[in-house]
Amino acid sequence: MPGIALIGTQWGDEGKGKITDLLAGDVDMVVRCTGGDNAGHTLVVGGETYKLRLTPSGILYPDVTPVIGNGVVINPRVLLEELDSLDSRGVDVSRLRISGNAHLVMPYHLEFDKVTERFLGKRQLGTTKKGIGPTYADKAMRVGVRVQDLYDPKIFGQKVEAALRDKNQILTRVYGRLPIEVDEVCEEYLGYADRIVEMVCDTSLLVNEALRRDETVLFEGAQGTLLDLDHGTYPYVTSSNPVATGICTGAGVGPKALDEIVGITKAYVTRVGTGPFPTELFDETGDEIGRIGHEFGTVTGRKRRCGWFDAVLLRYASRLNSLTSIALTKLDVFSSFEKLQICVAYEHQGERLDEVPFHQSVMHHVVPVYEEMPGWRTDISEATSYAELPAEARAYVERIEQLAGVPVGIVGVGPGRRQTLRREAAATVGVVQ
Ligand code: IMP
Repeated sequence: MPGIALIGTQWGDEGKGKITDLLAGDVDMVVRCTGGDNAGHTLVVGGETYKLRLTPSGILYPDVTPVIGNGVVINPRVLLEELDSLDSRGVDVSRLRISGNAHLVMPYHLEFDKVTERFLGKRQLGTTKKGIGPTYADKAMRVGVRVQDLYDPKIFGQKVEAALRDKNQILTRVYGRLPIEVDEVCEEYLGYADRIVEMVCDTSLLVNEALRRDETVLFEGAQGTLLDLDHGTYPYVTSSNPVATGICTGAGVGPKALDEIVGITKAYVTRVGTGPFPTELFDETGDEIGRIGHEFGTVTGRKRRCGWFDAVLLRYASRLNSLTSIALTKLDVFSSFEKLQICVAYEHQGERLDEVPFHQSVMHHVVPVYEEMPGWRTDISEATSYAELPAEARAYVERIEQLAGVPVGIVGVGPGRRQTLRREAAATVGVVQ
């Protein structure tokens, strides 16, 4: 019953798409469990680049069932645009299955995401403005609209009307915006209903049955551990739970369904949006990492903030997710670097901290304690095995492994599928060989 979870261990954008792609060819089902179209996965398959936001990457493999679980928030316009675009490129999208319990991102959620950010001014979170926070807020307030509401236009209309009654007051009186018309929202969304409804089912049952048949199910994480609503750098986080337990809730499976929990981590750290980032580089080195690593957001196109590798964060992610192994991506980005720094601890007011401080104000002011490692100054993107990597590159990987206390099973040395090296030593990794 192999359930494999792929979890981002940083602030998202760790290269989950590439690792999913590596494993997806050998699995039966790929499930997205949290987040919405704020996530962006870039996959290079058969020389073609696909940028997916909502659709699980399993859609690109004819023998895989792609599933959008109940924990995802769906903007139906974005989903259908994405499916149409895939369809026009010859991808069979009819296999997609969607949970009836997933919540819909409504036009007023998009509006609120924009106006609240604007009103926060300097304190803004730097959201992707895809309406994610307001949609999850309505879910928690129990005034959300779910995919299953598309089955009944009357109920759908009642829910939209109830939601807009107070939201329009806030939009007009607090934010000075025009009200949103109930009829317009209903007309647009009910227009999507036929196409969406034909893909809806009880996805929790579907996934659990696949596991019971001993099929391999890949649970595709979105965002990363440090963006987790409970465990991330709150309030500079997303509004869902990208950690492993969020996968269980968002797919409707128990914790025992996760046989392997693979933490995806970049060889350095990036973050978009606002919030603390201890190893952030404000100099040429940071620019160089961003330039070589093509660090621009898939969804927003924003330049990502870049910094040295942070082992304190990886240890934190390892603990929160019960990681069984690590996939280290983008090691090739450092090929021209003479020296590398790894943050092994933080310092705050003369005190050494080996763990992420629970107090956010402390996290804002910690100073990284670095350990210097020699670079390898060789192009490693053509390496075909881990053993072929220069000794300095292997030492870097193995130091990260040692600091995290979790084996590194996969090392990425370029964007292509073949540029992914498996480590024999890490025997626990990759049931899919
Ligand atoms: P939201 O998820 O749009 O509400 O944005 C909240 C925070 O999460 C912002 O800092 C975003 O930049 C960040 N964020 C959301 N999704 C992603 C992602 O897929 N990668 C990286 N950062 C993300």
